Amino acid sequence: MSQRLEIMYEKKPAYPILLEDNWNALALELSNLECKDRKICIISDKKVGELYCNEITKIASPISKSVVSYFMENGEKSKSMDTVLDIINFLLENRFERKDILISLGGGVVGDVTGFVAAIYMRGIDYIQIPTTLLAQADSNMGGKTGIDFGNAKNIIGSFKMPALVYINTSVLASLDNREYFQGFAEVMKAAIIRDGNMYEWLIENMYEICEKDSAVVMEMLIKALGIKKFYVEKDPSDKSERMVLSLGHTIGHALEVYSDYSLLHGECVALGIVCAAYISWKKSYLSMEEYYEIRDMFVPFYLPISVDNLDVNKVLELTRSDKKMKDGQIRFVLLKKIGKAFVDATVTDEEILAALNEINFTEEDARE
Ligand SMILES: NC(=O)c1ccc[n+]([C@@H]2O[C@H](COP(=O)([O-])OP(=O)(O)OC[C@H]3O[C@@H](n4cnc5c(N)ncnc54)[C@H](O)[C@@H]3O)[C@@H](O)[C@H]2O)c1
Ligand SMILES: [Zn+2]
Repeated sequence: MSQRLEIMYEKKPAYPILLEDNWNALALELSNLECKDRKICIISDKKVGELYCNEITKIASPISKSVVSYFMENGEKSKSMDTVLDIINFLLENRFERKDILISLGGGVVGDVTGFVAAIYMRGIDYIQIPTTLLAQADSNMGGKTGIDFGNAKNIIGSFKMPALVYINTSVLASLDNREYFQGFAEVMKAAIIRDGNMYEWLIENMYEICEKDSAVVMEMLIKALGIKKFYVEKDPSDKSERMVLSLGHTIGHALEVYSDYSLLHGECVALGIVCAAYISWKKSYLSMEEYYEIRDMFVPFYLPISVDNLDVNKVLELTRSDKKMKDGQIRFVLLKKIGKAFVDATVTDEEILAALNEINFTEEDARE
């Protein structure tokens, strides 16, 4: 079982994404990048590094000049300037030059940090993505968005930097715990809701196999989700127009991540953000009430949250102000016309956001009812 996608920019091949269920093709792919005279630094986190770094080192060592590895702490808090500077220091100590290569081995956190270092170290060096979470395999590996968090703002420092290669090995999902797996599924559901009603139906039909991580179904699901992202990133690489719909659920989602001090995971917040976006779409008469409840309730069988206990809605509203899609002080919000059709709207008011946050707020009063 093996698939290859080619990401194109300006009608030219930019980088391949390989989907495999093992590591067998990695050596050949690395050889194709002419690694013989290049050093490799595998950047990972402590958990993934312990699980898979030896295997990658064994594959990469015979076909490269040398291999070293750097492990950050796991979790969102590593998406910081401290980590970036620490990695840069490590690369300098190991005399990494512009021609050398970084490999990002991990989830979206490791991918975003490694990509950002690759963008700025010596004004840019090559990097390879080996995504190991469902979120990173289905979404964050593609499109070249890299970056870190700062203060109360998610992904506020960053750059676009395309990888030289993405190698997805679906078998690593076996070691991912269920909470992490299902939060990644939120991005898959997002892709379907934005653009593909048929994929949405397919996800429902294959719910059991998806929840059980059936390998053939997971592979098909990844191809569908990546196909949708490919459509947008090729059309709008720098996220100025069409691609913005991929941020469905992220304006409120990012605010909830910061609000919860990252105790809620990215995908969990995206699910909650999509519920809010669907609610606003219903209140603005783009969606019917039935469509709103259908979208909201579809997250439940995939173990994703649709409410939060005792939310300080005003605080979350305030945090949405750091959104990168702000233009002239107005949030550009992704809304829905139907399941499979998203669009960008610049007319969403604070009152509408507050009403949506109240909808997902589960208070003590709700508990008594
Ligand atoms: N650049 C983009 O386009 C993009 C898109 C979506 C999300 N993101 C970013 O991605 C981040 C979230 O990524 P994530 O959810 O992958 O988080 P993550 O990288 O923190 O990984 C989640 C946890 O799973 C563990 N893990 C990873 N792979 C594993 C495996 N195979 N087996 C066992 N444990 C494993 C990690 O150690 C970590 O503790 C957020 O910061 C978000 O902003 C970026
Ligand atoms: Zn996301």
